[in-house]
Amino acid sequence: MAQSEYIVIKAAEDGVNVIGLTRGTDTKFHHSEKLDRGEVMIAQFTEHTSAMKIRGKAEIHTAYGLIESEGKK
Ligand code: TRP
Repeated sequence: MAQSEYIVIKAAEDGVNVIGLTRGTDTKFHHSEKLDRGEVMIAQFTEHTSAMKIRGKAEIHTAYGLIESEGKK
């Protein structure tokens, strides 16, 4: 499978979670990465990863533009 573009996640607070969900018949969490404020993760969708869930306040830079997730108030 062709590799997709990268997405960049920059945490705007401590304890942001980047959760990878599996590709295939069932969609389950398979990986969770914790980022502290200022930390950056660069990731791709792969054969194993069909979706990502970002919990917490972060900037998510994608080919579709910049999305800002919000933390709980
Ligand atoms: N082994 C995983 C994969 O190849 C690693 C991975 C890729 C990942 N993209 C991710 C983990 C996004 C969490 C979030 O699919």
